[in-house]
Amino acid sequence: MRLAIVEGDGVGKEVIPVAVDILDALGLEVEKVPVELGYGKWKRTGLAITDEDIEILKSCDCVLFGAITTPPDPNYKSVLLSIRKELDMYANIRPIRPLPSVKGILDRSDFNFVIVRENTEGLYSGIEEIGENVSTTKRIISRTGSARIAEYACKLAKGRRSDLTIVHKSNVMKSDKLFLDVCRKVAAANEVKEHDELVDSMAYKLLVSPEKYDVVVTTNLFGDILSDMSAALAGGLGLLPSANIGEKHAFFEPVHGSAPDIAGEGIANPIAAVLSLKMLLEWNGNTEAASIVEEAVDYSLNTGIRTPDLGGSSSTKEVGSAIVNYIRSKSN
Ligand code: NAI
Ligand code: MG
Repeated sequence: MRLAIVEGDGVGKEVIPVAVDILDALGLEVEKVPVELGYGKWKRTGLAITDEDIEILKSCDCVLFGAITTPPDPNYKSVLLSIRKELDMYANIRPIRPLPSVKGILDRSDFNFVIVRENTEGLYSGIEEIGENVSTTKRIISRTGSARIAEYACKLAKGRRSDLTIVHKSNVMKSDKLFLDVCRKVAAANEVKEHDELVDSMAYKLLVSPEKYDVVVTTNLFGDILSDMSAALAGGLGLLPSANIGEKHAFFEPVHGSAPDIAGEGIANPIAAVLSLKMLLEWNGNTEAASIVEEAVDYSLNTGIRTPDLGGSSSTKEVGSAIVNYIRSKSN
């Protein structure tokens, strides 16, 4: 596997090295390609990402990404959106499940769902007209884009409870009628049970009865918001991993950003980054290594080695060492 490693900015520089130590401890054959992107690069060179960087990312099988700080430039185009588009990673996958000994805001452990978010169109199409008094953003919903995300969600659902929830706002936005119709057809063709919810009521229901949901498929912005909200169920942004998947490439990153408020203090929770590595290993077919990583994370949480966001007093590096030591003890 040829793996691009992008630490990015802020806490990305603290949590990705932990994930890389874990990858090294697993002893897999991986060619690591460091790539510098983000605000730090923008300050130095005026560009947060170059065409050459995109080519390097394209030459790799997948990317492990930290987070980047958005530069304070009104003309700045999102690096993440560029990468998702250039590498055509149309599916954003965010599994939401409880972790051992971690209390989410509702203190419940009976939920296990996955948000499958369309990643290339919707309100993040990037087609915008910015005026002094009126600014517009075009919301794109295509039949092809909706069908491929629905196919992905159905494939995932078939390996789980075969239950698909289609989230939309078609009562107000006609574009979502197309999304809903296409998702329903794809679910029927795949023999996956489906139902649908309006996004506002879904936000409520995910907090009141999260145990009811299995695979949730939705458009770009709705998926972004619902998944950050769901992070609170699981116990915080520092825990949640994500994957961006395309036909050829894949990109794995914690859901959180560069957390400038705690960057440099050595206290960022590395678990979201480590579980992103776990998703990467699963995607690459290293299922045994992925299970060991998950076990090691559970071990660190159960033994109380945790960062301050989870009420602990351990540092990022201490959590990393606990996970690495567990993995080493298993491979001896
Ligand atoms: P954020 O996710 O960086 O931080 C939100 C809150 O969660 C903060 O209080 C932070 O301390 C906490 N937090 C985040 N990660 C944590 C971790 N690993 N351990 C413990 N606590 C953690 O979101 P925010 O503050 O809105 O954005 C900061 C910067 O990051 C912005 O420039 C934003 O544009 C960028 N960003 C980048 C993303 C990416 O690269 N994928 C995603 C989200 C935001
Ligand atoms: Mg987000």
